[in-house]
Amino acid sequence: MCGIVGYIGTKDAYSILLKGLKRLEYRGYDSAGIALIDDLNLNITKKEGKVIRLEEADCKKEGSVGIGHTRWATHGEPNDENAHPHLSNNGSLAIVHNGIIENYGSLKIELKKKGYHFSSETDTEVLVNFIEDIQKTESLSLEDAVRVALSKVVGAYAIAVISKEDTNKIVAARKGSPLVIGLKNGEYFLASDASPIVEHTNEVVYLNDGEIVVLTKENYFVKDAKDIPQTPYVQTLEIKLEELEKGGYDHFMLKEIFGQPDSIADCMRGRLNVDTGNLVLGGIQSYSKALQNADRILIVACGTSWHAGLVAEYFIEELCRIPVEVEYASEFRYRNPIIKEGDIVIAISQSGETADTLAAIELAKDRGAIVLGVVNTVGSSIARVTHEGTYLHAGPEIGVASTKAFTAQLTVLYMIFLKLAFHKGTIAQNKYRQLLTELGKIPEKAAIALKSNEKIKEISKRLKDARNFLYLGRGYNFPVALEGALKLKEISYIHAEGYPAAEMKHGPIALIDEQMPVVFIATKDGSHDKIISNIQEVKTRKGIVIASETKGDAVIPKMVDYTIEVPVTHESLMPLVSVIPLQLLSYHIALLRGTNVDQPRNLAKSVTVE
Ligand code: G6P
Repeated sequence: MCGIVGYIGTKDAYSILLKGLKRLEYRGYDSAGIALIDDLNLNITKKEGKVIRLEEADCKKEGSVGIGHTRWATHGEPNDENAHPHLSNNGSLAIVHNGIIENYGSLKIELKKKGYHFSSETDTEVLVNFIEDIQKTESLSLEDAVRVALSKVVGAYAIAVISKEDTNKIVAARKGSPLVIGLKNGEYFLASDASPIVEHTNEVVYLNDGEIVVLTKENYFVKDAKDIPQTPYVQTLEIKLEELEKGGYDHFMLKEIFGQPDSIADCMRGRLNVDTGNLVLGGIQSYSKALQNADRILIVACGTSWHAGLVAEYFIEELCRIPVEVEYASEFRYRNPIIKEGDIVIAISQSGETADTLAAIELAKDRGAIVLGVVNTVGSSIARVTHEGTYLHAGPEIGVASTKAFTAQLTVLYMIFLKLAFHKGTIAQNKYRQLLTELGKIPEKAAIALKSNEKIKEISKRLKDARNFLYLGRGYNFPVALEGALKLKEISYIHAEGYPAAEMKHGPIALIDEQMPVVFIATKDGSHDKIISNIQEVKTRKGIVIASETKGDAVIPKMVDYTIEVPVTHESLMPLVSVIPLQLLSYHIALLRGTNVDQPRNLAKSVTVE
């Protein structure tokens, strides 16, 4: 949530920062702003709304040192005043901030007593004045004042501060929110993730929690919170610039939906060899024994990643016969869960930054659990705090509504637990080979599922004005129903609910009338006959039924209003293909309703606040 950027060097900072903010806009788009140092002046321009409004604003663009921000509002509504950067009272300091300062209320009272005034409702404006006050009263350098201030602050943050008294410097720090530094000769870049940096340099340093960095045009220094110099670990980025572009698609979301045959194949590349039956996941090898001996597995995640966890619960229990509990990270952390020493906790996250998931991991670690991460974003906080983990290798996901990360999470989790089932002996060798072969075919089956795009576009025209939707599925397709409903809610703003199909009669059936579209994920599996009965129950009440069914189904097409065909695969792998038509359905409905598909209102891709 919120994206921050910084630049110090010899070039025009404005255009670098603006472009960086556009790359980070998926993190929040309530307002955007830039602060630039030009000679001895500190010029700030900030605007409510998207980065484009900032770009259109009349402002001073000179300067080769600057910071920028794109906001997802926490404290104070989205308006120009609450937009970052915030200026300190004497006009010397400007700050951008991602996170929450929890004790800002008491700090504000103290500062007010000293005569400070505030023009915004934000916690960030309190922090910048707190730094100014410390700097003034203790005559400290900017970096020392930041360090002292942060030692008294409770909360999560990534910040960058510039000063017109110290024009060759950016001071930045992190605790709980991510920060990456890009290194180039005579130039340094700063950002919440690597996407604004990759077009300038691929040498980066991911700042660790509690660290403070000072960037000047000549050099950079990293220290910890106690002022002890650190040796930064310089990494080479593997992201390619084209992965951050729309590549001819109208939206990132569409690109990511259509990219799934490739992203699923990328997850398997170098790990799965169908010919030899080999399945290697390097990242979690040291804990393979612990996994084999686990009495139970806990999965913690949020949003779409939580849905991936629910699907995993089905196949882990079926293949490995290990009990699984899937928890919303936000609930897990606040309910004193029972965790035994040596329990396995799996944290699933696309961004690797979700605050609730991070907190759940810390809790599990404190209680002696082994925490494994299944994460997409390389170098992210979750990837760093888990004991071990495996990356998805799905490439950057930019559309706020998650699509390719879901199928990648399922692919990676399936590989881990298929292998485990084989080692535990809970599945026979021939079943192992059969499932492995079927898994290897998923990219081509995902490509077949995408062929329904045109048909789904047509169906969407008939459904776009509906005010409610129900999504129903059984077994492996129940979490897919939840995910389908979430996708529709997120980007079209139509109320949608996912339910196990059999539960419909315990409540949702009361909602069904001739206005109500009901999406059944009715692919052929063990409960096919049962879902046919559920479809019948909806049709009897005149509901509009859209059913995704497997090729060759002789019954369903005759019963329903619209069908969407998906290719046949093993039922434990079906979510990997059955989710695709639902992603497309939500995309087309949202498009027809004229919403912002890639940046839906009120949402952010990386939720770094609780
Ligand atoms: C936000 C995003 C969702 C995502 C969820 C969990 O709500 O908009 O798309 O599923 O966070 O994020 P994570 O990065 O941990 O998977």
